[in-house]
Amino acid sequence: MDTQVLKPTDDNIEYAGCLIAKGQLVAFPTETVYGLGADALNGAAVSEIFRAKGRPGDNPLIVHVSAPEEIEPLVTEMPAMAQKLMARFWPGPMTLIFPKSERIPDEVSAGLDTVGIRMPSNPVARDLIRRSGCPIAAPSANRSGRPSPTTAAHVYEDMNGRIPVILDGGPCEVGLESTVIDARFSVPVILRPGGITPEMIREAAGDVRLDEHIMAPVAEGERVRSPGMKYRHYAPKARTIIFEGTPEKVIAEICRRYDAEQAVGGSPAILGFENHDYGGRRVLSLGVPDHPDEAASRLFAALRELDTEKRTLALCEAVSLDGIGLAVMNRMGRAAAFDIVCLE
Ligand code: TXA
Ligand code: MG
Repeated sequence: MDTQVLKPTDDNIEYAGCLIAKGQLVAFPTETVYGLGADALNGAAVSEIFRAKGRPGDNPLIVHVSAPEEIEPLVTEMPAMAQKLMARFWPGPMTLIFPKSERIPDEVSAGLDTVGIRMPSNPVARDLIRRSGCPIAAPSANRSGRPSPTTAAHVYEDMNGRIPVILDGGPCEVGLESTVIDARFSVPVILRPGGITPEMIREAAGDVRLDEHIMAPVAEGERVRSPGMKYRHYAPKARTIIFEGTPEKVIAEICRRYDAEQAVGGSPAILGFENHDYGGRRVLSLGVPDHPDEAASRLFAALRELDTEKRTLALCEAVSLDGIGLAVMNRMGRAAAFDIVCLE
């Protein structure tokens, strides 16, 4: 199959919507990362997503809608806290967990009795949902285990020959996947951090909890509230280590390990801030320290670049956990299998 990369003109979005309605797969831009979409009410179409990605069958998909009313037939209950958060943060990078109705096929929910739903703010994504005439189930459009795609070129790298169409809406604004929240009870629980930050949720809801696995690995056989937590996502081939501490100590230790890796014939690279002086060593920029949103939008491209450059070791500067920084550190932590060196 030839994969077409199409600009999101009216005609092309209409065409892509028809493909979805016919049970085919389309990759499309959202404000977070590119999604790989299929008709969420068509179990056979949804299983094609798992095949194209090589995704484990026990990891459920997020359902995307173009307006809040569309969720009514998909759920059996509208918890009050979920309604409050929807009113505040939709459209946008927030997924809410609902008790699912029988209209959601098992392929989407992977055997759970809940479904994650979100209304994206990206206008191309919403237009595609409207034109396809159905809710769209979509995971990130990467091959399973690779960093999520934040450009159409990333999607093409992973999906060329596996899907008919990629809609190219340019680079994604946020660059990390949506915040996944269980708001079925009075205190919302963040299962995966993202663009809607704990601070924003606390402000809207009065309180917020973080799942214990956000900054810690999941032990073999341990039960988790969100199946995606179990998998070592975002992993570059390079061994990846994160360094935390004062900039002076972090820079000195990263330089020391970089040079040691080179001395034994390895190929190191640094994921660091561009105002830090690494003396001409290879740095993939995370922007500047007080703009974690820049680190968010650059991280996945940088992790892919490590593979392109065939790096053997990635030395990463930790980002502050404030705001979207928590989401950056969650993704970076998982890429590094939570190998974090504290230099204080
Ligand atoms: O920003 C995003 O959320 C992107 C774009 C395309 O919308 N999508 C995305 O999907 O990141 P995916 O499949 O890569 O990640 C979905 C995450 C997984 O960690 C999954 O385990 C969790 O959401 N999830 C989905 N349904 C769930 C449910 N019913 N209960 C708990 N976790 C759920
Ligand atoms: Mg994903």
